[in-house]
Amino acid sequence: MAILRQIEVQLIKVSFNRVFAQKAALAEKFYHHLFLELPDAEAMFTRDFSHQTEMFARVLTTGMQSLGRDRDMMVLVDDLLQRHKHLGLTLDQMYTAQRALHLAFCEVMQAELTAAEVSAWDNAIGRLCRALAAGIEPPAA
Ligand code: HEM
Repeated sequence: MAILRQIEVQLIKVSFNRVFAQKAALAEKFYHHLFLELPDAEAMFTRDFSHQTEMFARVLTTGMQSLGRDRDMMVLVDDLLQRHKHLGLTLDQMYTAQRALHLAFCEVMQAELTAAEVSAWDNAIGRLCRALAAGIEPPAA
């Protein structure tokens, strides 16, 4: 996975606390948009929403700590792929999650982040989702 440009890493690090402070609102918006586009996905979730918010925050933190460190990022991607393996997610579902994250960031963080910071987060989210999509096994022919 290509390393994020150093300037983008800095933009994400300086804005991290502002993003983390909105973790619950971000998680809520993320699932809102995910379920709007994938109504059937809601039934897959068995744990309560506070667990999902905590897990969402954990991905934010681990992802931020792994920025620019390809090996750490691959560990995070592998871990996420393992945790979703039993769900048999499709490429389309993963890119829907990317769009849901993008919309959640725009709606929740617009007033708190500069345009450059939003762009840096968007780029990092895109890279994470593309790495996850690349790890999804294609359906058997
Ligand atoms: C950006 C992409 C995604 C990220 C970062 C992400 C992150 C996570 C995390 C951190 C967990 C918690 C794992 C655990 O408790 O061990 C989780 C669980 C889960 N995710 Fe995702 N996820 C993504 C995409 C998706 C998509 C596209 C779907 C379905 C269409 C999905 C469905 C689920 C389900 C059903 C669970 C299990 C919830 C439960 O235990 O009740 N995820 N996800």
